[in-house]
Amino acid sequence: MKRKIIVANWKMNPVSSKEALILINKINQETKSIKKAKDLDIIICPPAIFLSDVSKNIKSNYKLGAQDIFWQNDGSFTGEISPKMLKEIGVSAVIVGHSERRGVGDSDEIVAKKLQTCLANNLTPIICVGEKERDSEGKYFGLLANQLKTSLSLIKKSDLKKIVIAYEPIWAIGKKEAMNSRDINETTIFLKKTIVDIYGKGMSENVSVIYGGSVNFENIDSIMKDGGVNGVIIGRQSLIPSDFSEIVKIISKI
Ligand code: PGA
Repeated sequence: MKRKIIVANWKMNPVSSKEALILINKINQETKSIKKAKDLDIIICPPAIFLSDVSKNIKSNYKLGAQDIFWQNDGSFTGEISPKMLKEIGVSAVIVGHSERRGVGDSDEIVAKKLQTCLANNLTPIICVGEKERDSEGKYFGLLANQLKTSLSLIKKSDLKKIVIAYEPIWAIGKKEAMNSRDINETTIFLKKTIVDIYGKGMSENVSVIYGGSVNFENIDSIMKDGGVNGVIIGRQSLIPSDFSEIVKIISKI
């Protein structure tokens, strides 16, 4: 059985360190009574500026994640944050190539370099792929395959088990409804088939695929049971401690 994964993507929230501390403490409190399953990883990803504060207050069995990374360890790179800096404050996972980062310039080639950097520094990369829209001829499958192939172009077969693929259809992010579980399942199978095309037979067994896009406590059961994924990445509902804790509770019981 693969480990289950919940990624809380706080995006550019909240606005102050004080509020970030209130949020993490509320999450700790709300989830206190839940007996977290041993095979469940909960990864909290605050904005970089609050990582240090959250790191000091996060529950010891939760992991700290960053929302982005730079691909060089040191040097003159104004505005960037290096893997060493992230490790120094306790980060162990990184969201790479989220559509909102791709939207401001992260190409598949940049994502590939960031993935390689994560692995070289023992950070778990959560690599996001997803189509902008679905056309009736199914062209989005080709797009997804290309995105995945180029993003993984610097990754060795033996490192596959260290990465998490987050399927996030852009059109389902920030909406009222998530993608339906049947389509999530179909796409998960397709992504795993693409892994086999790149790396060979049996290699998809090593890969974790999670889903993101309007996940909430009402659809989580169906996504986990019928979507073929072993986890989720959560935006808005990760900012509401009671809703987030409900999701943790449901996944812990599956
Ligand atoms: P959402 O965001 O849950 O608010 O749709 C998900 C994401 O962008 O990671």
